[in-house]
Amino acid sequence: MPNTVLIGAQWGDEGKGKIIDVLTEQVDWVVRFQGGNNAGHTVEIGPEKYVLHLLPSGILRAGKKCVIGNGVVVDPTALVEEVKGLLDRGVDLEGRFFLSDRAHLVFPWHGLIDTAREQAKKSGERIGTTKRGIGPAYGDKAARIGLRMGDLLDPDFDALFNALLQEKNAVLTAMGAPPLDADRVLAGCRQAGEFLQPFIVDTLPLLHGALARGEPVLFEGAQGAMLDIDYGTYPFVTSSSTTAGGACTGSGVPPHAIEHVLGVVKAYTTRVGEGPFPTELHDEAGRRIQEAGREFGATTGRPRRCGWFDAVVARHACMLNGIHAWALTKLDVLDAFESIQICVAYECDGRRLETVPANVRTLQRCRPVYEEVPGWQTSTAQATCFDELPAAAQAYVRRLEAVTGVPVSILSVGPRRESTMFLASHAAAESGTLSMP
Ligand code: GDP
Ligand code: IMO
Ligand code: MG
Repeated sequence: MPNTVLIGAQWGDEGKGKIIDVLTEQVDWVVRFQGGNNAGHTVEIGPEKYVLHLLPSGILRAGKKCVIGNGVVVDPTALVEEVKGLLDRGVDLEGRFFLSDRAHLVFPWHGLIDTAREQAKKSGERIGTTKRGIGPAYGDKAARIGLRMGDLLDPDFDALFNALLQEKNAVLTAMGAPPLDADRVLAGCRQAGEFLQPFIVDTLPLLHGALARGEPVLFEGAQGAMLDIDYGTYPFVTSSSTTAGGACTGSGVPPHAIEHVLGVVKAYTTRVGEGPFPTELHDEAGRRIQEAGREFGATTGRPRRCGWFDAVVARHACMLNGIHAWALTKLDVLDAFESIQICVAYECDGRRLETVPANVRTLQRCRPVYEEVPGWQTSTAQATCFDELPAAAQAYVRRLEAVTGVPVSILSVGPRRESTMFLASHAAAESGTLSMP
């Protein structure tokens, strides 16, 4: 498999974890490059279900090497918990998990500031964050006051930590939150540092060695294009570059090392948290999608808002990422519908829009322009190849290709590995020889 970046093309939870797990069979390395434990990537293997927040979803395939890159923000305590959880379940990490010494640390004050900021906002202004401290941690990185994984092992860590905590306690107090106990937090950091020490390395030479040897690398995006700090529905976004370019800065590889971009997209749309969502359904159809798709957040358990497929959003993601092919997931969730809507454009202030406007208030006024297609009302869950799908389901997939201009190379009809089809276009899409539909 060529070196591939896999990204979410909507508002997250597209099924990236499942697709990463499937594709990991064909690569040697899996690299997370942004986000933190705000992510929740689900992998179901037989009766076992795993939800990964920081570790790459490739970790469940024995022998595959997994990297947390410099672009990720890492809560060391949460990572220790996640690693221990996997060790308890018999997953062997020995010699195959590497944590960048340049990755920034998420401390308890980041979560508290995240929560306090949300509480201070009026309803309608809240982002609905995961409260994992992601925004404040990236904020400190950009302000050049953050501490990194490598600092955790530095003899000067205590002094660096204490100086920072003093400032943060002043901030917390000003926000009306109780200050943190320095000794307790420091002890927790030291403990996590000791546990994580064997994994903390300079991942740059490791990855470049892999590239030089021609060992295939899969870059695992978290969140989705519409949550990107620059191109998402700002300010209702996360705080990192969730798009393909983030793979370079977040892992230290040059753009030409990336040979293939795979966009993961659901057959409909969901969003957790606040912010505009033009195709959101507030009716029975939305509830049916939520129930059939079990649309509850993998990190916070919050119900996900549900709506029809939005081709304007998908095309936006194609532009930003240069998506060569789609992994289309959760087609089975639409099995029972008599008819299905596809949003092909927006109508805003009497004008037709084909692209996502930058201004969030303009996007809030956008109404979807729908194209209706027939449903198939047959189960697709058992299909093993495209030809076994009902004709209307095949037509729906082909229509999504046409309205987005990108071919579907992988099709998913269930949470497990077996419920995955590689379409005829798969090999061609990966080698760059496939023409667009
Ligand atoms: P991620 O954040 O993009 O990795 O996605 P999540 O794991 O948060 O959410 C996707 C959910 O859909 C998980 O519960 C998966 O097990 C499930 N899932 C993935 N692909 C499919 C599919 O094709 N059909 C169904 N029914 N469920 C799927
Ligand atoms: P995966 O990788 C869905 C959303 C939050 C909130 C906004 C900002 O599983 O697809 P943050 O805590 O990042 O500051 O919250 O982003 N969000 C996600 N939504 N899937 C995710 O990750 C998300 N990570 C963050 O709900 O609206
Ligand atoms: Mg998720």
